[in-house]
Amino acid sequence: MNRSIIAGGVILASLSGGSLPVSAETVPLTPQCLSETNALVRANTTQGKYILLPVQENAAPAHIRVLSDGRLDETLNITLAENRIDFYVPLRLDGRDGEEILLDIRTSHDRAHTRDTQNSLWSSEIKISDEFDTSNREKYRPAFHHTPLYGWMNDPNGMFYKDGVWHLSYQWNPYGSKWENMSWGHSSSKDLIHWEAQEPVLYRDALGAVFSGSAVIDKENTAGFGHDSVIAIYTSADASQVQSLAHSSDGGMTYERYAKNPIITYERESRDPNMFWDADNSRWVLLLASALDHEMLVFTSPDLKEWTLQSKFGKDFGAQDGVWECPDLLRLPIEGTDREKWVLICNINPGGPFGGSATQYFVGEFDGNKFVCDTPPEVTKWMDYGKDHYATVSFHNAPDNRTTVIGWMSNWQYANEVPTVQYRSANTLPRDLKLFEFIDGQTYLASVPSPEVDILRGTPKNYRPGKIGKGLKRFSLPSATDGLCEIDFDADLKNGSRLEITLSNQEGEKVVMTLNSEDDTFSMDRTSSGLTDFSEHFPCVTVAPAYNATGKYSVRIFIDRSSIEAFSYDGHFAMTNLVFPTSPYNSVSFSSPDGNAKVNSLTIYPLK
Ligand code: FRU
Repeated sequence: MNRSIIAGGVILASLSGGSLPVSAETVPLTPQCLSETNALVRANTTQGKYILLPVQENAAPAHIRVLSDGRLDETLNITLAENRIDFYVPLRLDGRDGEEILLDIRTSHDRAHTRDTQNSLWSSEIKISDEFDTSNREKYRPAFHHTPLYGWMNDPNGMFYKDGVWHLSYQWNPYGSKWENMSWGHSSSKDLIHWEAQEPVLYRDALGAVFSGSAVIDKENTAGFGHDSVIAIYTSADASQVQSLAHSSDGGMTYERYAKNPIITYERESRDPNMFWDADNSRWVLLLASALDHEMLVFTSPDLKEWTLQSKFGKDFGAQDGVWECPDLLRLPIEGTDREKWVLICNINPGGPFGGSATQYFVGEFDGNKFVCDTPPEVTKWMDYGKDHYATVSFHNAPDNRTTVIGWMSNWQYANEVPTVQYRSANTLPRDLKLFEFIDGQTYLASVPSPEVDILRGTPKNYRPGKIGKGLKRFSLPSATDGLCEIDFDADLKNGSRLEITLSNQEGEKVVMTLNSEDDTFSMDRTSSGLTDFSEHFPCVTVAPAYNATGKYSVRIFIDRSSIEAFSYDGHFAMTNLVFPTSPYNSVSFSSPDGNAKVNSLTIYPLK
C-alpha cells in the first residue's frame, strides 16, 4: 500500500508500509475536564505539528474553540469519539500565530445531548504528533479521479489554469468525512489527471464558513493587487450568505483576505459567485445564485471589488424544484458552424431527473448585461443524465480557448452515507464542452472526456464481436489493473434494435447499460451493482436521450473503483453514476433482446 505523510498539507514522502491511521511517535495529551460538557486541552506548538483528534462518525457533534496565545484562532465542529474511533483528523499547530494552544471543547450544545467528557474515549486518545498518515485505507477510493487525501469534499471551487498548472480547490471538511466546517482544500496538476495535494487555501474566518466560489487571473491589475494576481470570490456563510474576496500573489498557493469584505451583500440567500472577463465590454461579469428564488443574478464590475447588479435570469425557467446553486456562464462554439452561443449552467438540488442534485443548462444570448434564453421556460436540458454529477463549473483561463469543466461526483441525497470513511467523494473526469445542433432544431451541450484522459491508457485489446444475439458475448476486463479500464465500442442498431452492455463480477453483481435505438436512449441500471442499501435513493436506473440520428452508436465507458462514466464519442450524451461492487467487475458482456444488434469493434484499454 502506498503510504504518504502529510506535513504542512503537502505530500512530502511516499513510503511503503502498513495502514495504521497514525504514526507510532505520538504523545498523549491530558484534557482537563471542567464539567460534564466542557474540557480544556493545552498544547504547545513546539511539541509537534498536529493534534490528532479521534473521530466517531455517528457521535454527537462537539464544538472546539482553538485559542492561540489567548486569542481565538479557529472554531470547528467535530464528532469526537465517544466509544469507538473510526479515524483521526489532524488539527494543525504549525503556522499558528502563537505558541500556547488551548482547545476549549464543548461536547454538547443542549441538555438533551449531554455526554460525559471524562468518560468519552476521545479524552484518553487525543494526542500530539509530528506526522499524520494519509495512506489510503479505502477500497473504493478511485485511482484516476481526484479525491481529497482525507475528509469530506463537495463542490469544485476557484478552478483556474496558470503557467502550465491546473488548480482545483474544493469544498472541504478538514475535521471529518461528512459535510461540516466548509473550507477550500487545494490540489494542483500539470496534466489535469495526476493531482498533487497542496496546502488548503481558505479556512473559516469571522465572517463565516467558506462556501463555493471562483477564481480569476487579474492580468491587467484591475483590482490593484498586482498584475497577474489570482482573485478568488467566495461565499462567507454564517447567519447570512455574503460574498468575500481574497487575493493571491503567488499563483493561487496562498490567499490574503480583502480588508473590506464582504464585497457583495444581497437581501436574499445568495451564493457561489462565478466570474469571467467580458472582453467585449472590458469588464468583469459575476453570476450569483439566488438559491431560494431560483434565479441567477448577473453583476458587472470594472475592478472585481465594486459590483453592480444588472439583471436576473430564471423565474419559471427549467427545473425549479430545488435550490439553484453554482452558476457558470460560458460562450461556446456550435460544432460544424462558425457560430457561438452562450450557455448558463445552473446546478439544482433537489429536482434532478432521477432525484436529488443535478446540472441543468440554458442556451441563449448574453449582451454583457442580461442572459436571454433561446427556448421557452418549460424546456429543461441536463448536462449529464447520471445521478452523480453536480456543482459542475469551468476552469478560468483554460489553454487553447478550451472550456474544461469538472463536477462533484456524488448526489446530496446520499453523499454523506456512501461506504467510504477516510474520505468522502471524488470529482468527475475533466470534460471539454461544445455545442451541437440536433435534428429537433435545438442546441445542446456536448461533453467529452478532456483529451488528457487518454494518457491513462495502457496497451489495448481489440475485438470484432460482430452480430450480437440473445446470448451473452463476454469479454474479460483487465485483471492487471483490477478492472480499471476504458471500454470503447461501435454498435450498429439501425433496425430499431437494442443492445445490452453488462458489467459483472464473480459475486453476481452487475450493471446493465442499454442502448435502445427505438427511442434513441442510453440507460444504466445499478440496482444490483453491489452495495446499494446505505440509502433508499441509491438503487436506480438512469436514462439519457442519446441525440443520435444515425443508429450507429460509438460509446466510451470509464470504470474506476466506484464510478462509471459513459459518453457517446461525440459527447452528445454523458452519464455518471457511482457503484460499490464488493469485488471489481471483471467482465463486459453484450447481448441483444431482439437479436439484431451488431458490435463492429470493441477496444478495452487498461487504465493506469
Ligand atoms: C452546492 C453547495 C453550494 C454551497 C456549498 C456549501 O453543493 O450547496 O451552494 O456553496 O455547497 O458546501
